[in-house]
Amino acid sequence: MKATLGSRNPHKARELERLLPGWTIVPLEADDWPPETGATYLENARAKARFTFERAGGPALGEDSGIEVAALGGRPGIESARYAPEGAPAIAKLLGELSGVADRAARYVCELVCISADGEEIRGRGTVAGTIAREPRGEGGFGYDPVFVPEGEERTFAELGDAWKDRSSHRARAVRALLAALGAVLVFAGCGDRDRTGRRVLDAFFARTPYQRALALRFPPEPGSVSCVLRRNHKAIDATCSTEVTLLKPERAVVTLTEAWDHGTQAHTWFFFIRRDGKIQSVTQEGQPAPR
Ligand code: IMP
Repeated sequence: MKATLGSRNPHKARELERLLPGWTIVPLEADDWPPETGATYLENARAKARFTFERAGGPALGEDSGIEVAALGGRPGIESARYAPEGAPAIAKLLGELSGVADRAARYVCELVCISADGEEIRGRGTVAGTIAREPRGEGGFGYDPVFVPEGEERTFAELGDAWKDRSSHRARAVRALLAALGAVLVFAGCGDRDRTGRRVLDAFFARTPYQRALALRFPPEPGSVSCVLRRNHKAIDATCSTEVTLLKPERAVVTLTEAWDHGTQAHTWFFFIRRDGKIQSVTQEGQPAPR
């Protein structure tokens, strides 16, 4: 899958390419970008996606993101890129505005819009809550990452690094929402899990290697759910194991395996990005740590 990204920010293209295994993300070359005048992240992301679609055709991606600081009434928000030059100047301005302020709550927001080759719009949104540190720390990431500490962590995004961001950042969450929406669109288009190709892909997936054959003992061989028993600290837990398949063009698919327990309030999901012959190209995981 090749998609053109409507952004001048090379960091975003690199993050998105890591987050969308099997996709090639090509930043659009343009010097007449329309001004970002939307009132929301969604309006700006859509405008970038449409501009890119008109220039390059589909699939086109538009992304808009920003950081919202509670004590500043949500600023800089959609103005984050224009608040001050990215990096040290923007961080210095933010820390200056927050000097002596006890409430450090903040969140990152990311809105993604994808326009498919036939002009259909698919969206995904992701947020991550945290606080603004008192001084910058760490080398990774970009923008405000040296001063953003996500909830549940003590280190900044820049200290936690790319691997952490790829699992849990606002952009990672927006990508997963986009992929889920893309899956739903494919199902509606009649090329999703009820399709015969989907069954063939799953047969190949569950037969390919000893590891994949072991998965076949736990998960249903076709889209749907079965009851299963997981083990945590030698205790048996009643759970549900489910299988889904989404076909991507050309010749790729995502097999999604989910274990849900505690009446569905806890879940662990694996996304296997595969070729349609069942060969795994990459895997991402989300949710609670999986029981054994
Ligand atoms: P825009 O979406 O291109 O308008 O710019 C978003 C701005 O928000 C960036 O220039 C950064 O300043 C900030 N931002 C968005 N996402 C991130 C991130 O993951 N890390 C650090 N800064 C970010």
